[in-house]
Amino acid sequence: MRAVTVSPGMPDSLRLVEDWPEPPTEEGEILVEALAVGICGTDLEIVSGAYGEAPPGQDRLVLGHEALGRVLEDPTGTLRPGDLVAGVVRRPDPVPCPNCAVDEWDMCRNGQYTEHGIKGLHGFTRERWRIQPKYAVPLDPALASVGMLLEPTSVVAKAWDHIDQIGARALWQPQTALITGAGPIGLLAALLATQRGLTVHVLDRNTTGPKPDLVRGLGATYHTVPVAELDLQPDVVVECTGAPVVVLDAMCKVGPTGIVCLTGVSSGGRAIDFDAGAFSRSMVLENSVVFGSVNANRRHWELAAQALAQGDQSWLNALVTRRVPVSGYLDAYTHASDDIKVVLDFTA
Ligand code: BGC
Repeated sequence: MRAVTVSPGMPDSLRLVEDWPEPPTEEGEILVEALAVGICGTDLEIVSGAYGEAPPGQDRLVLGHEALGRVLEDPTGTLRPGDLVAGVVRRPDPVPCPNCAVDEWDMCRNGQYTEHGIKGLHGFTRERWRIQPKYAVPLDPALASVGMLLEPTSVVAKAWDHIDQIGARALWQPQTALITGAGPIGLLAALLATQRGLTVHVLDRNTTGPKPDLVRGLGATYHTVPVAELDLQPDVVVECTGAPVVVLDAMCKVGPTGIVCLTGVSSGGRAIDFDAGAFSRSMVLENSVVFGSVNANRRHWELAAQALAQGDQSWLNALVTRRVPVSGYLDAYTHASDDIKVVLDFTA
């Protein structure tokens, strides 16, 4: 069967393999036929050779962690043939650390977790894959064309869950959210913010392309000025760019008792001048919180599945700006301006 693979650490090693082996039964009882896989910045980083790890003893890694598939068979009876399904990305570390031991693999403490299509486990960009019931998340049948957005939605569902839990340390009645970056993560974070009834502002540097209309389609306000020039004091900031200046400005912009959640994986290596003393002083005097958030556990995947099912399906479809047949994989992994979410389509 066909599979899109790389040799992690080696640039220019992206290949469509035509005779990849069928998924072994040890991968899980549920056999799934791939419908689509979304591509994100992490995939592009792996393709560039900067990130990613093949399974132990192997030299190639099947890409893909934003899966959507249809169940072919499930001898456990958990799912029915024909059901839409996505596979959870991360698996607990083998020690396991205290968090992984209670299925909070998204909070792994020793870094020995594995991730499908990223770190030590083959991904979902192959015609068929297998999964254990515990890691198989069913999707509403209405999500057949956008279900590959479940994984990025799980990431923002976790971010909002942790914002709520941090907020609950005292009286917490947030009104306004600022989302920095209108890529898929930023737009999905904005969707969840509007579903919570917040007044939402989204900031991005793009003045053209689909982003301004997508933001307005949520009833949110689109800004293109630098964060520091915004005339608002958000209760919550969800930072989705990872760009150092935006991260710092976002941390300084949040209102008193506010919460800043960092979700963008910055590349590092670019030092900028920063007055840590003034920042610390305002954090202390205003009881502010800055925290990082990555990945998601099963509870977040289920929250995300609900959020997508409640979302406007035409808005969700508009996030998918390119659907590329698997044979055009090279094109799919090449970033184009105006891309929001690019999807490899196994049905085309
Ligand atoms: C994925 C996460 C993963 C992270 C780090 C992101 O692209 O969405 O699930 O934990 O990369 O590997």
